[in-house]
Amino acid sequence: MSARSTSDAPASDAPWWRHGVVYQVYIRSFADGNGDGTGDLAGLRSRLGYLQRLGVDAVWITPWYASPMVDGGYDVADYRTIDPRFGTLDEAERLIAEAHQLGIRVIADLVPNHTSERHSWFREAIASPPGHPSRDRYHIRDGRGPDGSEPPNDWTSTFGGPAWTRLADGQWYLHLFAPEQPDLNWENPEVMAEFLDIQRFWLDRGIDGFRVDVAHGLVKDPTFSDLGPEHLEVLATVHPANHRHWDRDGVHEIVRGWRRLIDEYDDRMLVAEAWVTPDRLRLYTRPDEYHQAFSFSLLESEWDADELRSVIAEGVTVAVPNGSTPTWVLSNHDVMREATRYGLPKGTNWRMWPVTGPVEALDEELGRRRARAAALLLLGLPGSAYLYQGEELGLPEVWDLPTEALDDPVWERSDHAQRGRDGSRVPLPWESTGPSYGFGSNGGWLPQPAGWSALAASAQAEDADSTLSLYREAIALRRRLGTADEAIELLDLGRDVVAYRRGTGLTCVVNLGTSPVALPAHDRVLLRSEPGGPDDPSGPDGALEPDTAIWLM
Ligand code: NOJ
Repeated sequence: MSARSTSDAPASDAPWWRHGVVYQVYIRSFADGNGDGTGDLAGLRSRLGYLQRLGVDAVWITPWYASPMVDGGYDVADYRTIDPRFGTLDEAERLIAEAHQLGIRVIADLVPNHTSERHSWFREAIASPPGHPSRDRYHIRDGRGPDGSEPPNDWTSTFGGPAWTRLADGQWYLHLFAPEQPDLNWENPEVMAEFLDIQRFWLDRGIDGFRVDVAHGLVKDPTFSDLGPEHLEVLATVHPANHRHWDRDGVHEIVRGWRRLIDEYDDRMLVAEAWVTPDRLRLYTRPDEYHQAFSFSLLESEWDADELRSVIAEGVTVAVPNGSTPTWVLSNHDVMREATRYGLPKGTNWRMWPVTGPVEALDEELGRRRARAAALLLLGLPGSAYLYQGEELGLPEVWDLPTEALDDPVWERSDHAQRGRDGSRVPLPWESTGPSYGFGSNGGWLPQPAGWSALAASAQAEDADSTLSLYREAIALRRRLGTADEAIELLDLGRDVVAYRRGTGLTCVVNLGTSPVALPAHDRVLLRSEPGGPDDPSGPDGALEPDTAIWLM
């Protein structure tokens, strides 16, 4: 691919993913090119210039394959076809070529834990009698009880309810997510062969890497024994080691097979979505496994200096001994947007809060301010940074979507205990006016709040103090300072301050306390999360206001 000009940055031979800023495109909510209310490849292609201007190194596109969309495309019916709602294979190839022309890599989403129930393999399996080899590609088993009418065990689905559904012939199949997402049996060699072939299919079309969905869930305890008290809550994030179906040692053998294939190509990568404990995360990035694995600790952390300091130290120690890099994430399409998360009081369970309230607990302005400070915290760190679309616009969670609009299976399957993840998936506002604020020529698949015209990308692009301008400047500075030097030193500037100095000379200071803090000696202010005011800290005597961050040289 043609490389972006880096003439003003110190040269680095490191592979691109080591320090890349990767922008997550949740395709159905990014940009709608054909006016049907769903984002698509045409929309994404029309906005590549925006992503180039933002300065990202790569995009990760959530599943674009043929799918009934029960789980937003994470229920794949055909891994070699683009869903007609998103476009065609030809268009995907054009998108890859156009992105490469602009110096942007393209990461596809690989979904190996389960298929859609509409996948030809599952159709064949359930049309075949018990014992037929096609059934062995999934976990299809007899039930318990005298007539087999009880599920094979007590496992529950991540989305709520039992993890087993009964077939017409009386057997049961396993689904760790929705019933429409039957789990594949990775003990069956046909499954491995098929996924190697799928990867080759996309690598040959120029895909630069794969984000691997549910990397920690592929292997199940062969005894299929009950979980007993080890049940996890709906949408639980951290999963214990060697659980009956999470984070089992066998998952590593699988990725080693994929890695051998990836290594046949130049410069491609694998990034794991593995919600596991930090001490186990390091196993996923051993030299013959994933190139990197999302560190979700930042995303899970409270706005608390102690916690953030240890998250940074941990992110570095988990990744570095393996030769991987920290892989930071503040948000994604599965969690509450940080502009809202940070506006809730410490200790709030943000998954439950949209249902339980109290509504008055939310301080939107505080959340907005902290999210901007968190952006500087994130983008100054060594390693790669994954941004979630709309994060650069400071979008809040739309936690009060009308219940009739909710599409995430979690809402129904949790018996309305959780609203699910739609609040972070509302279509992006591109323009201040027009139907769906420029998302498309008609409405979007989820309604946008009335106040979003000021948050539109076009409005923010004109405003030097906007969150979009902050992200653009931070990413440009990050590039200019260079990313080759991965060193970081945590500085002690007081209990409520998170501060670090990079090998590049950049110092980032974040004030999480309630009163201003003095800045360390510096030559220059590079960037501040809030525009100037009476407390303007750009002079050496300035102080940093609460819930703000600054980059110093
Ligand atoms: C993780 C994905 O990010 C999420 O959106 C999806 O529901 C589950 N995996 C199941 O595929």
